[in-house]
Amino acid sequence: MSELARTRTARPRHYLMCRPTHFEVSYSINPWMDPAKPVDTELAVAQWERLRALYAELGHRVDLIDPLPGLPDMVYAANGATVVDGKVLGARFRNAERTAEGPAYLDWFRAAGYPARHDPEHINEGEGDFLVTGSWVLAGRGFRSAPEGHAEAQEFFGRPVIGLELTDPRYYHLDTALAVLDHDEVMYNPQAFSPGSLAVLRRLFPDAVLADPADAAVFGLNAVSDGRHVVLPEAATGLAAQLRRRGFEPLGVDLSELLKGGGSVKCCTLELRGETSGEAREEARSHTHRRA
Ligand code: ARG
Repeated sequence: MSELARTRTARPRHYLMCRPTHFEVSYSINPWMDPAKPVDTELAVAQWERLRALYAELGHRVDLIDPLPGLPDMVYAANGATVVDGKVLGARFRNAERTAEGPAYLDWFRAAGYPARHDPEHINEGEGDFLVTGSWVLAGRGFRSAPEGHAEAQEFFGRPVIGLELTDPRYYHLDTALAVLDHDEVMYNPQAFSPGSLAVLRRLFPDAVLADPADAAVFGLNAVSDGRHVVLPEAATGLAAQLRRRGFEPLGVDLSELLKGGGSVKCCTLELRGETSGEAREEARSHTHRRA
């Protein structure tokens, strides 16, 4: 089936970001981090500012959380929480170096007036490992978030959580191996998952965009989609071509400094999903009817 004629619709989004003012690589908790390699913090800030400006140009709202000294990974805002239907599930980090980020992000949500907040009991690294589709919450495990954290998320959000086992240490968070493009449409790196989890992905998403190893290795899957525009690392040219064929509009950005910490576009972006609006409910209903 040709996808060329398909028109994609962007929906305005609300994001939370954290300026990399204190960004550096002073410890190593993933294979990308080499404290011996110099990091240009000023360049990191400039690259990050371009990403932030791009979201604004696309009509999205971006809120900022103050960066804290001594928390160089705080720029990876995706890890700070998971927000669905206006409900905030806080993060609990596996590594001691990032522990303080959990309460820092929860404080921001308290000050911003989100009444439904849950301080988690089990390890979950926010949207690093939880990716929300129209029907499910996809949840990574194997390196960071714990299976008990998946159960906690399902109970809190009241949405089905699908656990997926990550097996390649380079793709330690789910958002380094899979991205949600639209409702229940995703792209992923088949080589990052256990055989059983790959079978689950094939069953749920038979039409998914599959990334080749070269695109995965430049963090091409660490992307943010608004339903039409897909912001992704500019080096992921193969993925960009595939997305274009499906009617998406890929927008490449350069976040080379942030990649030294093991993150890119999606890692720097936490989506704040509000209460399901009437419009979204309507869309969900017509989707159900089409299926029936
Ligand atoms: N240095 C950070 C860590 O290893 C990078 C986090 C990247 N964020 C993400 N959402 N994958 O925890």
